[in-house]
Amino acid sequence: MIELNFISNYSPTILKKGKVTWASPSNIALVKYWGKKENQIPENPSISFTLEACKTETELVFEPRNGTHDSFSFEVFFEGEKNEAFKPKIETFFKRIKDYVPFLKQYHFIINTSNTFPHSSGIASSASGMSALALCLMSVEKLLNPKITTTYCNKKASFLARLGSGSACRSIEGDIVVWGQHSEIEGSSDLFGVKYTEEVHSVFKNYHDTILLVDKGEKQVSSTVGHNLMHNHPFAQNRFKQAVENITTMKTILKSGDLKAFIALMESEALTLHAMMMASTPYFILMKPNTLEIINKIWEFRAETGLNIGFTLDAGANVHVLFPENEAVKINEFINKELVAYCQNGHYICDQIGFGAKQL
Ligand code: PMV
Repeated sequence: MIELNFISNYSPTILKKGKVTWASPSNIALVKYWGKKENQIPENPSISFTLEACKTETELVFEPRNGTHDSFSFEVFFEGEKNEAFKPKIETFFKRIKDYVPFLKQYHFIINTSNTFPHSSGIASSASGMSALALCLMSVEKLLNPKITTTYCNKKASFLARLGSGSACRSIEGDIVVWGQHSEIEGSSDLFGVKYTEEVHSVFKNYHDTILLVDKGEKQVSSTVGHNLMHNHPFAQNRFKQAVENITTMKTILKSGDLKAFIALMESEALTLHAMMMASTPYFILMKPNTLEIINKIWEFRAETGLNIGFTLDAGANVHVLFPENEAVKINEFINKELVAYCQNGHYICDQIGFGAKQL
């Protein structure tokens, strides 16, 4: 599918005032996307678990405007309060998608949005937020053009979400999503995320992800800056090649349910992501002392008990602790007793693998 497929073609009906609402989740990458080309095209494919509890709920109210307009017209409310700080990011998103969403300038939009997780938790809300907004826009497109299918809506929502924030394209569906062209994943594309339809071992159903909130502050280096530092990075080409190979390996692991291999690959991916940051020019470190304390505690506990607890990291200091359902009692006990002490104000979020966005 090429980008032209996402250019809408429907009669210019004007809708009356109305609203649509979506809840869209966050996701956690197992093989990471780090480095992009122009137009949010990833340098390498990535694969993620969709989450269930960490979600953004967005209500989009649309009202037709009279006449023709050169600019967008919208207001943003976050958790019930007018929010000017989110507007530039949404304005940029609208500019990027305007050719694919021609009705954007014909309506005034009120965007009412909220997260199920605390805004200042250090959890990136861009994946859930951008995917929720993209899905709302696709619901409006569906009202204008009822013939479009759910498959098309999901694909285009993912395509649009990607233009808002790369990893957001992996938040539309669940429970496992691949984004980026890979020769062994049928239908995979650089333009949107696709649901992973290969065989998956039952151990990965209900897989847990407890997110330990080590640092709830604003990141010192944004993902955008981080991605850009992969241009002219001395290890970039090898890293992109490695990610492709790691997707192939992950495919075998997801089928076999070999948790030791799963943990080894997931943790290596997390540390490689942060190693890329540390080897950038300029270099930077997003992990905090407590990130390393937690990692060492996990390694010690795993060596002592043989339980299948492993971690991954986003572009930040928080630690995602992943483990299977049948070991959850013992691992939760360990998290409570040993790891919560390293979280800011003792805060953490219990999440698990989820099945994608829902219209409300
Ligand atoms: O979607 P962005 O541009 O915020 O980048 C996210 C990159 C990582 O979270 C570090 C990795 C990933 O694949 O989600």
